[in-house]
Amino acid sequence: MPKDGITPVNRVALAYSGGLDSTVCIKLLEREYAAKEVILIMVDVGQGEASLAEARERVAGLPLQLITVDARREFTDEWIPRAVAANGSYGGYPLSSSMTRQLIAARVAEVAREQGCDAVAEGSTGKGNDQFRFHNTFTLLAPELRVVTPIRDLNLSRAGERRLAQEFGLTYKEGISDDKTCWGRAIGSGEIEDLEQDIDVNEYEWWHPVSADAAGPVRVTVEFREGRPVRVDDVKGMNEMIGMLNEVAGRRSIGRIDVVEDGIMGLKSREVYEAPAASVLLTAHRDLERLCLTKRELAFKAQVDTAWADLVYHGHWHHPLKAQLDAFIAESQRHVSGEITIDLHCGNAVIAGRRSDQSLFDPTVRSVERDSFDQSDMSAVVETYAFESVFLGGRNRRQAVIQAPEI
Ligand code: ARG
Repeated sequence: MPKDGITPVNRVALAYSGGLDSTVCIKLLEREYAAKEVILIMVDVGQGEASLAEARERVAGLPLQLITVDARREFTDEWIPRAVAANGSYGGYPLSSSMTRQLIAARVAEVAREQGCDAVAEGSTGKGNDQFRFHNTFTLLAPELRVVTPIRDLNLSRAGERRLAQEFGLTYKEGISDDKTCWGRAIGSGEIEDLEQDIDVNEYEWWHPVSADAAGPVRVTVEFREGRPVRVDDVKGMNEMIGMLNEVAGRRSIGRIDVVEDGIMGLKSREVYEAPAASVLLTAHRDLERLCLTKRELAFKAQVDTAWADLVYHGHWHHPLKAQLDAFIAESQRHVSGEITIDLHCGNAVIAGRRSDQSLFDPTVRSVERDSFDQSDMSAVVETYAFESVFLGGRNRRQAVIQAPEI
């Protein structure tokens, strides 16, 4: 029977990843919430076959229904291109887990409805950001379903969870936890409490340290059409391009991100990410925008991009304002087409060349070598432009006279 204050659930769909949190939740739903049926929903967002296989293995003996939803294409072909167009970055973090949590929640809500569930459950703790992302998405997309969060409700610490896992006979991986998506991997999120220490280089999957046997420099060309990456050298397809760049740029020490992050609750945490493909594609996209958008568009879009990242980080992917910003961003990308060439080497992704038939750069006017317009026409323009400085200078002079000490 459920404990005091905990209402029982009947048929519950659990967002399952195979990690310690969601694995412990299976048993807690049965024991603490008297769930009659727990349906595990595993959403594939590109965490890799090994991780999915491990998650399946972990529950192989249990009499439960496990439904796998393939959301890889949706993530790579619909979500990531929006993030690229928005230069999606929250203080340097490319929002990988922020996005996938909301994609997972959306799919879990959908399956839960199809399966006639009365509740959805997820394994967030009460300390992190993911609880907000799940809750916002669940309540927005499936308002009739109850949302159950066993780890938070029962105030479980990681040590408490480990004890429970042992008690339930569940296996779990020791060591630092991670959250892997093709757009980035979050390592030890909120777990790294020693700010002075680097994490072990062996924790990285794509990122390689610069060392004597480091891979040599490589040059890649990224083609964009209306703000969307369509080709990296001869590789096409979002998934394929991202896979290739995670490998090629990761080998050249690119995409290691170590930041102090301001979480949704206002708590700071040390976050370590590896995101080689995102680093390269975002660098290239930003550069192409600088070539194809006007000064005013760039300045305004920077504000829109910040608002976009903020909404996505704070769990509002499905918010109407986010859709409105997406509409602006899509319109802004109409002329963001062309090719950016980048050199990747020893942790640097440096722009080596740009080409676009939508470029606003005009060497015939700007070139100091050519006669383009009569420079003397600029005198009146510069003089009137300087009015502000003229008035400020005048005031400074008047004050200097007033305040001048008597001799
Ligand atoms: N700090 C990042 C974010 O809030 C990463 C979170 C990763 N989540 C996790 N449970 N490992 O989006």
